[in-house]
Amino acid sequence: MNSVPTQHQRVLSGMRPTGQLHLGHYHGVLKNWVELQHTYDCLFFVADWHALTTHYEDPSVIEQSSWDMVVDWLAAGVSPGSATLFMQSKVPEHAELHLLLSMMTPLGWLERVPSYKDQQERLKSMDLGTYGFLGYPLLQSADILIYKAGLVPVGEDQVAHVELTREVARRFNHLYGREKGFEKKAEDGINKMGKKNAKLYRKLRKSYQEQGDQEALGVARALLESQQNISLGDKERLFGYLEGSGRIILPEPQSLLTKASKMPGLDGQKMSKSYGNTIALRDDPAVVEKKLRTMPTDPSRVRRTDPGEPEKCPVWQFHQVYSDETTQAWVCEGCRTAAIGCIDCKQPVIDAVVKELSEMQERAKEYNEDPSLVREIIAEGNETARDMAIVTIKEVRKAVGLSYR
Ligand code: TRP
Ligand code: SF4
Repeated sequence: MNSVPTQHQRVLSGMRPTGQLHLGHYHGVLKNWVELQHTYDCLFFVADWHALTTHYEDPSVIEQSSWDMVVDWLAAGVSPGSATLFMQSKVPEHAELHLLLSMMTPLGWLERVPSYKDQQERLKSMDLGTYGFLGYPLLQSADILIYKAGLVPVGEDQVAHVELTREVARRFNHLYGREKGFEKKAEDGINKMGKKNAKLYRKLRKSYQEQGDQEALGVARALLESQQNISLGDKERLFGYLEGSGRIILPEPQSLLTKASKMPGLDGQKMSKSYGNTIALRDDPAVVEKKLRTMPTDPSRVRRTDPGEPEKCPVWQFHQVYSDETTQAWVCEGCRTAAIGCIDCKQPVIDAVVKELSEMQERAKEYNEDPSLVREIIAEGNETARDMAIVTIKEVRKAVGLSYR
């Protein structure tokens, strides 16, 4: 572990604008973002360059999807007052960092990322044998590292990308964090903390380095955190010195695994555009109702009088997301005894989904009617993000020896 705890409050996540958002995004990602924005310093962005890695032949969907996606975020409760919302391509420092990282990233690291071969297999219709697609996870690393984000909320499928980011950061710090006279500077920094704290720091460092004492590492970091008398440079150096490596320029992030969304698709598989089993956040109530009415149920309930088994029915999975215990008990009992029909059973789900979506669509209305509101939110977010990114890119240029000052 090589991450700097000061940065742990910064959370970053992105979403690719490749089509309409659906209930899977809402329950799997957006509700989580809405929660996180109250606790952390959050950055959420539209990963338009990432969308281009797979949609380069027909990029026409990207721009409209990007704006619609931001409206859907806002409708879901993501708040520009609490989080910074921006477009990846409006912060070109992501691209510069990506380029610089590409110089020192071994090809094998990218070829071994599981999503690389998987996606090529899965998306046979697209030619993903491109340089850009191979670099997809490294661009993601740049997204994360340019803000020195500590936490990255992602689903299971993205954990490998955060893992790669950690390895890339470690390699970068190893290559460029070793300044001349590092040790001497670190020792001077320790002495600036005052006698008592200096002694404590040395003791904790020793316990960590000699016994691998993780708790000592934690305490030492907290100690550094609380120091008022030493410069930021000294602090960074001393974080690095704890682990012996050198200065930490790019801290290693951690993934914040979102609990697997229980949101099923209309056929009981995971809700996903590629399975054609989605309810879009922008679907009309009439469309939603029709989709739910015609969705499959337990196949053994052929006639109304046949008893069924909720565990074999995708509608039951919807009840687990949307219904209270009383309704759930009514479903189980009624289904197994054939006391209720499938249409009766679906009605509470229809009502709940329609209510959830109408509330979101109501909130989306003002943004759809006045797109300048969304443009402004993003323009402001772009600027905030860019200011942060510039700080890091300057450090990075200096570290790799390209600051020309
Ligand atoms: N690859 C992510 C996805 O497909 C999107 C993404 C791009 C991202 N950059 C990121 C997520 C940085 C988290 C952090 O879902
Ligand atoms: Fe599914 Fe409900 Fe029909 Fe049972 S009654 S099969 S749970 S829809």
